[in-house]
Amino acid sequence: MILEVENLKKHYPITKSFKESALVKALDGVSFKVTKQKTLGIVGESGCGKSTLAKALMALETRTEGSIKIENKEVTALSKSDFKSAIQMIFQDPYSSLNPRKKAWQLISEPLLINSKLSKKACFEKACQLMEKVGLRPEMAQRYPHMFSGGQRQRLGIARALALHPKILICDEPVSALDVSIQAQVLNLLMELQDEMGLTYLFISHDLHVVKHISDDILVMYLGKIVEYGPREKVFDKPLHPYTKALIASSPSVSIDKNEHEPISGELPSPLNPPTGCAFHKRCPMATDRCAVDTPVLETKDGRSVACFEV
Ligand SMILES: Nc1ncnc2c1ncn2[C@@H]1O[C@H](COP(=O)(O)OP(=O)(O)OP(=O)(O)O)[C@@H](O)[C@H]1O
Ligand SMILES: [Mg+2]
Repeated sequence: MILEVENLKKHYPITKSFKESALVKALDGVSFKVTKQKTLGIVGESGCGKSTLAKALMALETRTEGSIKIENKEVTALSKSDFKSAIQMIFQDPYSSLNPRKKAWQLISEPLLINSKLSKKACFEKACQLMEKVGLRPEMAQRYPHMFSGGQRQRLGIARALALHPKILICDEPVSALDVSIQAQVLNLLMELQDEMGLTYLFISHDLHVVKHISDDILVMYLGKIVEYGPREKVFDKPLHPYTKALIASSPSVSIDKNEHEPISGELPSPLNPPTGCAFHKRCPMATDRCAVDTPVLETKDGRSVACFEV
């Protein structure tokens, strides 16, 4: 296993008023494993904790609880440079994540300058090689980010993330901001790079069609918890959790009956005040009295894990 996450939690303390404070349980006990060179797709409605998971894995946020191991080593035991060459991330909006005052080659080689002893010239050359690898002409090395198109900027972001040869790449909505035609090109590039460099991906997206295309395993999240987790074929073709079913049915591109897609009924509850029992019970067509009281835990059923009393 290249990545093992155990009982990961991120709780944000929120001040409600002068006297009152509360906790947003953005991530509430998430466990999963990823095999080398595979892709774990992470799906769920807005606010379910996908980016919080990415940030906790990248140590951009301190975790409240839990363990993260890369190749059997707790990440907190890794040196800063070992950690950076173990895991990197690309973002939804490559423009806001790239410093507008730096040239392409400087942006790409920044991690190298900080984490290795390469000379400036060697960094420039490495940046040009990386640009070629992601399908950008090295002549563009002196350009600033605003001189690139959206798709090209995402390629820049990918080149920068790959500069230290990471083992794991977290992609948080990497193509959501791009035109559909450009999306396919960037996805193909990611898949080529995965084969070529032996990369392992965590792929976060709202677009189930894209996730289905790229992932080996799927993790479905609801209000900070995993509700269903397993191989892509199981989760997409024979979903068990009512939330997974609703999510698929609400997505015209993947729902089996393409003519009948239904939005998920009810509103996403506030994470500040989540329902008792199963967090999905108020929106669930299968809910019983028990679901309002007891919280289901993940259990193995038909080749995947699912947290539901009724399946
Ligand atoms: N810094 C913070 N302080 C307080 N609450 C936060 C903070 N960051 C995120 N949250 C809350 O944590 C929850 C999960 O947010 P997160 O950004 O992880 O969701 P997401 O699944 O990535 O959503 P989206 O699909 O919209 O990107 C949300 O309720 C959000 O409001
Ligand atoms: Mg997000």
